[in-house]
Amino acid sequence: MKSILICSPDDKWASELAEKLKPQGHVISHVKSGKDCQQLLYQKNQDYLFLDLKTSNHSCFEVLKYVKLNHIPLDVSLYAPNAEALRTLEIDDVLLKRLGVNQSFYGTASIPKIVLHLTQNDPSRWRKVGQDDSQNQSTEKKIPDQNFTRIKINDTIGGGVAIFDHYIRLAPNSYVKILHQGACFEKERLSKFAKDGVEHLYFLNQDRKIYINYMNDVVKRINESGKLHPNMVHLVKNITDKYIEEVYTSGIKPGIIEEAKEISSNMYHMISKDEQLARKMDEFKEFDPSIYSHCFLVSFFSMVICKNLTWVSAKTRESIVTGALLHDIGLLQIPVALRDKNYLELNPAQKKIYEQHPSLGHEMLLKSTVVNDQVRQIVLQHHEHVSGTGYPNALTGLKIYPLAKIVSFADYFSELLTTQKLTPLEGLKVFLSQKEKLINYDSEVIRALVAGFTGKI
Ligand SMILES: [Fe+2]
Ligand SMILES: [Fe+2]
Repeated sequence: MKSILICSPDDKWASELAEKLKPQGHVISHVKSGKDCQQLLYQKNQDYLFLDLKTSNHSCFEVLKYVKLNHIPLDVSLYAPNAEALRTLEIDDVLLKRLGVNQSFYGTASIPKIVLHLTQNDPSRWRKVGQDDSQNQSTEKKIPDQNFTRIKINDTIGGGVAIFDHYIRLAPNSYVKILHQGACFEKERLSKFAKDGVEHLYFLNQDRKIYINYMNDVVKRINESGKLHPNMVHLVKNITDKYIEEVYTSGIKPGIIEEAKEISSNMYHMISKDEQLARKMDEFKEFDPSIYSHCFLVSFFSMVICKNLTWVSAKTRESIVTGALLHDIGLLQIPVALRDKNYLELNPAQKKIYEQHPSLGHEMLLKSTVVNDQVRQIVLQHHEHVSGTGYPNALTGLKIYPLAKIVSFADYFSELLTTQKLTPLEGLKVFLSQKEKLINYDSEVIRALVAGFTGKI
């Protein structure tokens, strides 16, 4: 148990953070002003201070100065709405260190990262499996299936601390909690479940965002370590799947752009450092037709293309991945019966309805202030062909937005692999032999994908 002081004028953020930390037995105090913060630090020892950049009535800098001058031993984190807010004030990492800040957190993605930071900093204080958990291990709970999301047990990373409760599904609407938030996620226990025939672990939908942020962090650290992870493609696919699930069920919320940026960076680094990726994708047998797999593949092939195009910057990559993840969001607005069918099986009237999905998706994104225009254009134009035979506006060559050309080809290529059950290399061979399809896509973009899998341009 630790004493945690949150100093922030933002009630919503502070109470959400407190809510996530309280179940782990910490004592949480929340003050709104810098003056109250200093007073509390004077009265009571604290282990952690989460200080909001926007703190007033004694600014955050005054509080930091107070902590430093009085040699108060505690772990200090600075919270800012985004990295830009610090850059505007010309605050960099060196200055933060000098001010006594141990780490900084940004925006809506900050809460799961803070939970993670606390768990990683001092694992000894978390409960061990087999202590408090034992009472609940066999208690069956009736909870509706729609409240849960799942991951394959073999794609779970053991050895750390569970940052939310994990369940096993016994029967429809019936679950048993096998791991509490904060408990040790022991590898042996996981493999025992897998041996006993458990295929999936379940967690509540409300924890999906924590999962996305946590796994993005795990993948980032694996990428930074320079080591190749045998399950990397699956890990990244799981994050993408949960991301799509979240957007499709909860709508376009502010955090989705930050999460898409992390996915973009993780995917790009995975592709960049692994020369054997084509082979790994061949082993990857999950080209199912679900929207999750589809969006993962479109984002993935878009990134392979980007890696081989010299003009694509990191910022542009972020827009491309966000566009690729959201490209079919307009399908939510068309009848389910049409959504799940193969386009080629639709009759002319049904095709007309189906072909509205890029415009419908574009309209949905126009209502959001967090999505930029690059992303909107990708969504609107992802079925346009350079030959002028695409929809909704039958644009030709130069009139098509360059980023949409990347996603458009990645979209077609993913569809080809899924419908014909091909590996990427087989898919490339089939595609390159289809002269009538080749003219629909930008030749530079095609060459970039070929180079991604064969190393030749
Ligand atoms: Fe589409
Ligand atoms: Fe698509």
